[in-house]
Amino acid sequence: MRILMVCLGNICRSPLAEGILRHHAEQNGLDWEIDSAGTGGWHVGDPPDPRSIKVARQFGIDITAQRARQFKVADFDLFDQIFVMDTGNLRDILRLVPSQEYSKKVALMLDQVYPEKLKSVPDPYYNDDAFEPVFRMLDKACAAYIAKFL
Ligand code: 4NP
Repeated sequence: MRILMVCLGNICRSPLAEGILRHHAEQNGLDWEIDSAGTGGWHVGDPPDPRSIKVARQFGIDITAQRARQFKVADFDLFDQIFVMDTGNLRDILRLVPSQEYSKKVALMLDQVYPEKLKSVPDPYYNDDAFEPVFRMLDKACAAYIAKFL
């Protein structure tokens, strides 16, 4: 499986989602390709936000080597599954699909826990206290997704 995590800046939520899913995949012996990207390009080349690095480290996951990049249309072919963090990301990514077939690859991350509820992972950028709750909801969603393959 090749899975891409997408948020707005690719420095807070999707780098966490990438690190968490990779951690779960490794722990379960799954040889998956996991990456992340942002719909926006403001942070291209940047490491994850220090608050994401810190909360990941608290839970034993190292995301320091990851670097932000912007989503590109070629990603629709390069990945089997594209998880978006919020409904804004969903709208932005679906606007880029080369044909309707590709929209089947795109889903909200929290659909794994709350199917069809259109729930978003809140953007923690302006709230230091939001990083741990964001980590926990991503961890739950990634565990639920992986469980389908075990
Ligand atoms: P993310 O959070 O989408 O979870 O990476 C954000 C980070 C930066 C910005 C927006 C959201 N920004 O506008 O710079």
